[in-house]
Amino acid sequence: LRTVANLLPRHLYIGAALTAHPLLTDSLYARTAAAQYNIITPENDMKFQFIHPQRHLYAFAEADAVVDFAHRNKIDVQGHTLAWHEAIPAWVHELENNPEEIKKVYTEHISTVVSHYKGKLAAWDVVNEPIRDKNLDRQKGLRESSPWFKALGEQYIDIAFNLAHRIDPAAKLYINEYGVENLVLNDPNNKCNALYQLVKRLLQRRVPVHGIAFQMHEDMGEGHRPVDPEALAYTMKKFTDLGLEVRVSEMDVYLHTDKVTPSLQQKQATYFKEILAVCMNNPNCTGFSTRGFTDRYSSLGWRAAETAAVDYGNGLPFDTDMRPKPVYHALLQQL
Ligand code: XIL
Repeated sequence: LRTVANLLPRHLYIGAALTAHPLLTDSLYARTAAAQYNIITPENDMKFQFIHPQRHLYAFAEADAVVDFAHRNKIDVQGHTLAWHEAIPAWVHELENNPEEIKKVYTEHISTVVSHYKGKLAAWDVVNEPIRDKNLDRQKGLRESSPWFKALGEQYIDIAFNLAHRIDPAAKLYINEYGVENLVLNDPNNKCNALYQLVKRLLQRRVPVHGIAFQMHEDMGEGHRPVDPEALAYTMKKFTDLGLEVRVSEMDVYLHTDKVTPSLQQKQATYFKEILAVCMNNPNCTGFSTRGFTDRYSSLGWRAAETAAVDYGNGLPFDTDMRPKPVYHALLQQL
């Protein structure tokens, strides 16, 4: 197999989310990842509930294994993630009626985790999914359900970026979000507009936010329309015009069926390729990553678990036997 990293016309990160468990137990998984990517992100191992399961206990072993694997193979790492409303352990939720304690926990957590990886990560998804999906007129569109927001308001975002930057000034600091590929400026019902306005406020306050990552969990099943590549190109440009970098951070494209035909596979491959092209056509789009890379660990993956009735597999560039699919070949062709 040709590998992607040495085909790049300019420095562009091509990556995937990896987890410690198959890295340690499945050598084909590890070898394939090592050969294909120049950046990886820990899929779950750095999330709060896994890395900080009890108030006075941090569990770095799995996340460290992912980072060590990357460095042994000269691959960069984007950390994921410091401030999210999900993957928060019960012991944190139990403190929610005590904002002072939540604040303490929050800053301690971020300081400890960023310090642990200081100098080892190229980037961090600092704040994950800060924008709500509905009722965007409330709280400037910020997600109220987040315990960090409840205790600190919008400042939780400033605090995370300022702290991370102070501790690890070399790391590129990102907001990672979904459903924001279609900016309609000043439309109060447009999720991306809420993100754009947030970013403008952050930049005005000189908060060190360096980039926006677009998750791109897309669906090509019946009745679903994936994001229009032209809309994404326009949206990325609006953010890079603000002086930011952008990335595609978690792409996967679900076909909503276990009966995958060659024509569906081709359609999926073409779509991946179009999105990569959008990134390559913006000089400040610096990365393109998928959520996982092989259907071996994704067909029973996170969406399948949420919607057990539908087969959400087949969303990634490699099949369950670790063979490259049309998606992989299309991406390579685009590079
Ligand atoms: C997903 C992981 O890929 C799954 O393995 C896990 O079960 C649930 O979380 N947005 C994010 C990611 O920022 O962290 C999520 O990852 C997918 C949605």
